[in-house]
Amino acid sequence: MFWPKVLVRLLRNEPAFRSVLRNRAQIAAEELAALLRFMLIDQQIPPKTLAELEQQAVMRNYVPPRPLVLAANDWWLHDEDGNVYLDYQGAYSANNAGNANPRVTGANHLAASFSSVLSRARRNRQLPLMAHELQRALGIDYKVLPMNSGCEAIEGAVLLAKLVFNRAERFGAKRSDWFYQGKQPKVVFCQNNFHGRSSWAKAASSNPAYRDPFEPNCCESEMVNVEFGNVEQLAAAFEQYNCIAFVAEPIQCEGGMNVPAADYFRQVRELCDRHNVLLVLDEVQTGLGRTGAMLGQHHFFDGRVGADIISLAKSLSGGQEVASVIMARPELADLIRPSEHGSTFGGTPKASATIRAAVRELEDRELCAAARSKGDYLLAKLRMLCESRPEIIDVRGVGLAIGIEVHGHGADEICDRWRRTSFVYHGREIRGCWTNSTHGITDETTVIRLSPPLTAPTDLLDASLYSLALALKHPEAEKYRRTDLESARSAYERGHRVGNEMRYLKKRARRFWNDLQWVKKENS
Ligand SMILES: Cc1ncc(COP(=O)(O)O)c(C=O)c1O
Repeated sequence: MFWPKVLVRLLRNEPAFRSVLRNRAQIAAEELAALLRFMLIDQQIPPKTLAELEQQAVMRNYVPPRPLVLAANDWWLHDEDGNVYLDYQGAYSANNAGNANPRVTGANHLAASFSSVLSRARRNRQLPLMAHELQRALGIDYKVLPMNSGCEAIEGAVLLAKLVFNRAERFGAKRSDWFYQGKQPKVVFCQNNFHGRSSWAKAASSNPAYRDPFEPNCCESEMVNVEFGNVEQLAAAFEQYNCIAFVAEPIQCEGGMNVPAADYFRQVRELCDRHNVLLVLDEVQTGLGRTGAMLGQHHFFDGRVGADIISLAKSLSGGQEVASVIMARPELADLIRPSEHGSTFGGTPKASATIRAAVRELEDRELCAAARSKGDYLLAKLRMLCESRPEIIDVRGVGLAIGIEVHGHGADEICDRWRRTSFVYHGREIRGCWTNSTHGITDETTVIRLSPPLTAPTDLLDASLYSLALALKHPEAEKYRRTDLESARSAYERGHRVGNEMRYLKKRARRFWNDLQWVKKENS
């Protein structure tokens, strides 16, 4: 009975499909026109004019280096002078599945021809499927609240924690402490955190550069700061204050790729349970493969989820869409009532379809395992390379979230040199490796961030170390230049890549088949 139903639905929805097809045809024509316009007009605008326009019309909240990125795909960045760079930054981990990933881009473009934003005042097909996909991929039954940016997601996660505090029975005693004893409820954060750029995130930041220019900051009276990784300080804060939630990143990426002790979050969880405090983990940067696991917290909870509330963004939509989600245990999530929180764009069909494709791409390309093995390899090699360099304090990380800590502001200088130090890969000159620095735990250090797309081949990462050695002025840089022997391994790697591709296609076919069986069952 399934196939006749398919036909009936197709015929019934024929006007909708006709409008989508017409739209797709128009979009294809418009894409061609835009491409022509780009090649003949936009691309011909002299760099000097662009620089002047930028100076005159764009606020100077970022000062990127001079090269202008013309295109980015997979792990390559192409500048306007025909140079190609290895992307070692991955848009702060938004491009885990590679720049302009075709599967994610395809899903995004197709969904765009069905509709633009519908608003949550209307139901759409993609949102429930996306939420279900996330639950399945993460192996949890947490409910999903869609938002847009990472900052909105983590701020929303804290708002949800407050809502739970105000409503859940389990917080009754703490609420009466507040009402009758004036013990103000507090949210505990970590020093050196990064949760984005809203007033709330700035107030929670311990970095004066992010916080001080925006004084007076909101909500400061409800915030308590403790050292990241310090269980005693956290316990003391829980004893001293009337705490609602503890908010942390599983690994502090912006804060310098800081990895806490293996048992830190288990102890945190125990403390939270003992003191009736919600654990909110910000997985905006660590989520979805970056650390070699679907979630950064998986490393600390034996592959399970330990937080009560989670925020996800960046690579959630494969870098193709501004999309984030808050996920919370069902009993907490169910406390929210209609219209208490929301967003015009959160959970659009386009964002939801893009998230579905991005999550499947991560799984089908086995990018968590790839990040783990590539990360282990790179970390070991980097430790060897940096061992004797006096300017380097530490090399650390998990998966492909790696940081090289440098004295003073040295990281900026090294990043700049690395971007301008070429190396050869498969006979092609790569202009340099492009990443940027982040701040260290103290003001005296800076960190070179290495977070390439998880799809970048191991032999390419390997080859790039020669240019890093040159950028570091390593006396034995030649040792890191790829030899003929390693090229032979490249041929082996190419074979390996073909094998991977076949496995990937098989997985996609199997997934298609399983989905088909599922809809058949649902229709029966
Ligand atoms: C852990 C964490 N939370 C929140 C954010 C903010 O995300 P967005 O820039 O999408 O607002 C970031 C951004 O880097 C982040 O790393």
